[in-house]
Amino acid sequence: MSVRYEQKECRSIKPARYVRTLAEDVLAGLVEPPRKLPPKYFYDERGSLLFDQICDTQEYYPTRVEDALLAEFAQEIIHKIAPDHILELGSGTSRKTRHLFRAYQDRSGVIYWPFDVCREVLVETAEALALEFPQLEVRPLLGDYSAGLEYLPQLSGRSLYVFLGSTLGNFEEEEAVTLLRELSTRMSAQDRLLLGIDRAKPAHVLRAAYDDNMGLTEAFNRNLLSVLNRELKGDFRPSAFSHRAVYNEEMSRIEMYLVAKMQQEVNLETLNLKLEFSEGDSILTEISRKFTLESAARLLGKAGLTPEEHYTPEDQYFSLLLVAPERSAM
Ligand code: SAH
Ligand code: AVI
Repeated sequence: MSVRYEQKECRSIKPARYVRTLAEDVLAGLVEPPRKLPPKYFYDERGSLLFDQICDTQEYYPTRVEDALLAEFAQEIIHKIAPDHILELGSGTSRKTRHLFRAYQDRSGVIYWPFDVCREVLVETAEALALEFPQLEVRPLLGDYSAGLEYLPQLSGRSLYVFLGSTLGNFEEEEAVTLLRELSTRMSAQDRLLLGIDRAKPAHVLRAAYDDNMGLTEAFNRNLLSVLNRELKGDFRPSAFSHRAVYNEEMSRIEMYLVAKMQQEVNLETLNLKLEFSEGDSILTEISRKFTLESAARLLGKAGLTPEEHYTPEDQYFSLLLVAPERSAM
């Protein structure tokens, strides 16, 4: 007998301010050097799957280390905050967040709000969670957090906001402050943010994490070109670009590039646009900032937030910060 599960409904979150469309980002970012695109376009169905596979590689330590921290401290965090709502930004497959749900044991009445830009991963994850945690109410939210948080649902009681994986590090400083400030504005004095941040560490460890041996990060990076082909009727040949991950020590961040292997011309039919690449021309597809405790606290401070608890392993490869709005600090 086959069982059919109902499609979980996603609620679409209205953007609070104007954000560029993909077409506009391409016109603004790909025509002239320095070429760059926002990393949110990685995450179509295939991109989300590739990211999940990256998380299982030996080289990509952030998921493993953050998972172990959550396994160890979820109980303590849930006991301390006792949230009625858990709202997660960039929730993906919610693989690490499950530790928080387990820490609730049999208590019902908790609502989990996964918020992500990728519809496929949201729906699939919501269905999986409903089976795995029957006591948990899951209400998926579909949208772009860089367009503002004003239209997220108003939550009563205590909320735990969750932003894992060091996804905050994919933002430049100013963009990160904007997002965090919007969060802090929403937070009441008893709400908290559980924030995962990747820490600065030796360059060879970082470079390997963003250039794994199985080539999954390379495929993830190149998938961006397939997204452009599909969405804008393009003729990029992903194999004509190589994946490059550079550690920019001065800025304490990994930079991922796609580099043209040869001189080439690419057409984007929808935009009636021809792009010219010389051999070696690059597109910056992602930054991934690596924090010190000081740089993270400074960033949070700019947004009216302050770290209250800090969980990190002995090697300090990754940190989980429990963060409070400044007005609630003792
Ligand atoms: N939190 C998970 C997934 C991290 S991958 C973890 O720690 O493993 C980043 C996630 O953020 C993806 O699921 C992606 O779809 C989502 N995302 C990226 N940019 C986004 C945006 N602008 N708005 C909403 N979600 C976004
Ligand atoms: C989602 N984000 C935090 C990942 C990172 O490490 O910056 C995305 C990623 N890019 C390459 N590998 C993983």
